[in-house]
Amino acid sequence: MESINQAFGGPLIDQNGRAVYYAIHMDPSYFATTQEYYGPTNYEKASPTTTYPVGATVFKSAWRIVQPNEIAVKAYTTSATIDLLKSNGMGGIEKSGDTATATVALVGVHVVGVVQDHPEFIWGTFEQVENAPDLPPLVPPTSETSVSPQNFTFYKAETTAAQSNQQASTFTVDQASQTIAPITNVFRQFAFGNATPDRVSDIDSTNKLFRQMIGGGSVKKIDQVFSNYNLIGSLWMLPNTLEPNFDNLQPNGVGSVDLANSVLETYAQGAGTSCFSCHTTGKGDNYPGKDVTSATRCWAASPERTRCAAGRAERQRRRPKGRRFTDVRASCRGDERAAGQTADPRGRTGPIRPSPSRHCS
Ligand code: HEC
Repeated sequence: MESINQAFGGPLIDQNGRAVYYAIHMDPSYFATTQEYYGPTNYEKASPTTTYPVGATVFKSAWRIVQPNEIAVKAYTTSATIDLLKSNGMGGIEKSGDTATATVALVGVHVVGVVQDHPEFIWGTFEQVENAPDLPPLVPPTSETSVSPQNFTFYKAETTAAQSNQQASTFTVDQASQTIAPITNVFRQFAFGNATPDRVSDIDSTNKLFRQMIGGGSVKKIDQVFSNYNLIGSLWMLPNTLEPNFDNLQPNGVGSVDLANSVLETYAQGAGTSCFSCHTTGKGDNYPGKDVTSATRCWAASPERTRCAAGRAERQRRRPKGRRFTDVRASCRGDERAAGQTADPRGRTGPIRPSPSRHCS
């Protein structure tokens, strides 16, 4: 388990007061490619159109701690070494330096892989069925309306939308019990990543078919417990349209265009935000902008960024043929400066956030 912080976000605290832990796993070809170009010096050697090979796959997963008296029957569980946590004395959370063995339950997983003609990877995400309610249609994400009368793993019945998906700025940690306050209540802003109705029915039938197949025993290698997980959606681009030096691919997304996982990107959900808001071909810390690789994704999805992305999509629609994207990006950076943001010392523009969670490796 690598981290308790979400990408550019804080921790997610479950209804038992335990932090959710995140892990990353790679298949051998993803690992080999990443290793070849890892670090600014190696990365410099890659041509701007270098891509991961077909089949390269990477996973990011979210795990909650199973309570000592709990039997988590509807989730895949395993035993893991976790970092124990303590307060950093300033309202934040840090590793205490000790570890423990815990039973953990899989609550969400990103599955991202390259297929033929899609060097941008297909970005898919799955959630355990009891994670969180979907925000009902037409209810604004900040409304004072209850999201659901039911309890979920990450949601207490009748919590309002406004009180949910809130990233706390200070936490208290009880080191002995490893419980943390406040608890996070979560809703899923888009049930299917804001896909169009025909795609929603594809996602639905994929889930039903998969359940039938593993229930009917025709896919014997798969543990039946995985019938308790739903594909939320997947995201890709038109075939072979990936270009270097694009610092927000969200407007180019096809499929579940605003895809997020409620337990992996709890605080970054919303219209105009997807995996492609952060995972881009733009430059990262000391990395020149080139292709979509794990090294080039240091890009924060703040509300300002989202507004800017929306403006950029509109400008792209109006862009005269033949003009490059660079001027569009430059004017977008201008918007961000106008919005009162400062230049990042690492050469990017964006909000400087005091959060200890900024994690760009
Ligand atoms: C708010 C920005 C942001 C969003 C939105 C986002 N990610 Fe990420 N993602 C990151 C960052 C940063 C990392 C690096 C590890 C970390 O900090 O957790 C990462 C790591 C990953 C990894 C592990 C491999 C790697 O590149 O390190 C996968 C797989 C992944 N994300 C998939 C997704 C998928 C699928 C979506 C959309 C459903 C998504 N991400 C949305 C920022 C984001």
